[in-house]
Amino acid sequence: MGAAQQPTYPDRSAVDAAVAKLRSVPPLVFAGECDELKAKLAAVAQGEAFLLQGGDCAETFAGATADNTRNKLRVLLQMAVVLTYAASLPVVKVGRLAGQFAKPRSSDLETRDGVTLPAYRGDAVNGYEFTLESRVPDPHRLVEVYNNSASTLNLVRAFVTGGYADLRQVHTWNTDFVLGSPAGKRYEKVANEIDRALNFMQAIGADPDEFHRVDFHSSHEALVLEYEHALTRIDSRTGSPYDVSGHFVWIGERTRQLDGAHVELLSHIKNPIGVKLGPTTTADDAIALSNKLNPDNEPGRLTFITRMGAGKIRDALPPLVEKVTASGVRAAWVCDPMHGNTFEASSGYKTRRFDDVIEEVQGFFDVHRSLGTWPGGIHVELTGDDVTECVGGGEELAEIDLSQRYESVCDPRLNRVQSLELAFLVAEMLRKA
Ligand code: PEP
Ligand code: CO
Repeated sequence: MGAAQQPTYPDRSAVDAAVAKLRSVPPLVFAGECDELKAKLAAVAQGEAFLLQGGDCAETFAGATADNTRNKLRVLLQMAVVLTYAASLPVVKVGRLAGQFAKPRSSDLETRDGVTLPAYRGDAVNGYEFTLESRVPDPHRLVEVYNNSASTLNLVRAFVTGGYADLRQVHTWNTDFVLGSPAGKRYEKVANEIDRALNFMQAIGADPDEFHRVDFHSSHEALVLEYEHALTRIDSRTGSPYDVSGHFVWIGERTRQLDGAHVELLSHIKNPIGVKLGPTTTADDAIALSNKLNPDNEPGRLTFITRMGAGKIRDALPPLVEKVTASGVRAAWVCDPMHGNTFEASSGYKTRRFDDVIEEVQGFFDVHRSLGTWPGGIHVELTGDDVTECVGGGEELAEIDLSQRYESVCDPRLNRVQSLELAFLVAEMLRKA
């Protein structure tokens, strides 16, 4: 079987030049860091930790700014604090960032006002602007993906080790428009309690440097094979191949064919990996994927990210989890409550209802609780900004509000207040363990 969802490049020699360049650049992440994340995800698979994975549906080159990155990191840190505090469990923090530039599409072409052009496949492949020039796939963009990922990851590393993510800063993350919202006020209370706990720990002699840095990892969908392949390197410690474009890479719902090129490539790398599972997935499909991708059944290696839809999860998930678990497969189960809940508003905007997102996460928790399996985490599309892309939430965003600040070039993301609200609701579900 060939490779699904690949760009059709007009100029093969330009592809070869981009790939040659990518083969020569330094790794974005180190194999040892991937192993550390794998060990953390093993704790998730075993019911001892919770995964928070989030970020844009599609990063853009223009959006790879310091403000944007800081805002995304900040909302993820706030969410992680809420979840950790509520559940007294380690929260594994993974960004959909520093590499999330390529998108699968249901159609190769897009037609607007009688004009048909190649569909936008993410900044990794072509431009969003609806002109022929911009929509023709350009392999040089793959080198730009590397450069943008490097600068984003460099900033994230500085933030998480340089003091910004220090737990003693929990208050300072809660700024501007969030502060006035009910979720922001609720967050202030948690932050006060964390302050008290930190003061107590310091008083009894804990090392304050322990609070200074957090672990944070990068992830993206491994979609454009040329890019992922060119960034796959042999780790000098172990002699094994790692995809050094990100710590964690996943296979999307449209590219998870057992005999497909994406499954083949990811079966050879040692990173922790994920596979999205939509509502048509059978237990046999998932077991076969595990056999191919994780033949040693190593916990932490494989995460199943289910994205069923709020209306389907209570029917589709139980037989899947039950049979896969009974077969002995050891995977982490994570809920993506976004991709099964997208619809088009009457105004034409792609959107999601906050209530559907919550309903899918609630269904996910209920199903795992009733089977005695562990609801291991959430995978969400979010931004640190005050966008208007998903409807509902405490601010009761309506469909007519969507045009105010709709910035996503692909799927609708939760804004910062909605993300924090989600964290509080998930924290309650976790607490009821
Ligand atoms: C995505 O995560 O943006 C995506 C395209 O998801 P899926 O493969 O689950 O449709
Ligand atoms: Co998406």
